Amino acid sequence: MSDAFIALEGPLGAGKTTFTRHLLRALGVDGRIKSPTYALLEPYEVDGRTVSHLDFYRFDDPREWIDAGLRDVFAAPGLKIAEWPDRAAAVLPPADLLIRIEPQIDETRRIEVNACTPRGVELL
Ligand SMILES: Nc1ncnc2c1ncn2[C@@H]1O[C@H](COP(=O)(O)OP(=O)(O)O)[C@@H](O)[C@H]1O
Ligand SMILES: [Mg+2]
Repeated sequence: MSDAFIALEGPLGAGKTTFTRHLLRALGVDGRIKSPTYALLEPYEVDGRTVSHLDFYRFDDPREWIDAGLRDVFAAPGLKIAEWPDRAAAVLPPADLLIRIEPQIDETRRIEVNACTPRGVELL
């Protein structure tokens, strides 16, 4: 899991941030896990490894990609987890795993996980 890019798709309120919080906890992140909706990026260190939680909901100018240091994040090893990847599709590399969360009328969620690269197949 340490070097990979996981993209999370689904409408507002689907549970992308909630899923990421649980994943980060399971990986050993303690302390507060904020939603990166305003900051674009929340970085964490776990056992000397970098985990980056990204949210492109408010991303609308590709210049932010460089200004927010995102080019460096994706050039370096580490786990990247991104919400709303489609809003930064022009600058993002392909995801290793693409996870789609669809809320159902009965409040449960339907989850679809696709491996899009050899690394993704390995993780799946
Ligand atoms: N699997 C789930 N089942 C039921 N409720 C959920 C689930 N995942 C998230 N929620 C609830 O949905 C709301 C929005 O979740 P959030 O993770 O912020 O969504 P997103 O990041 O996709 O916009 C929160 O109140 C959260 O508790
Ligand atoms: Mg969110």
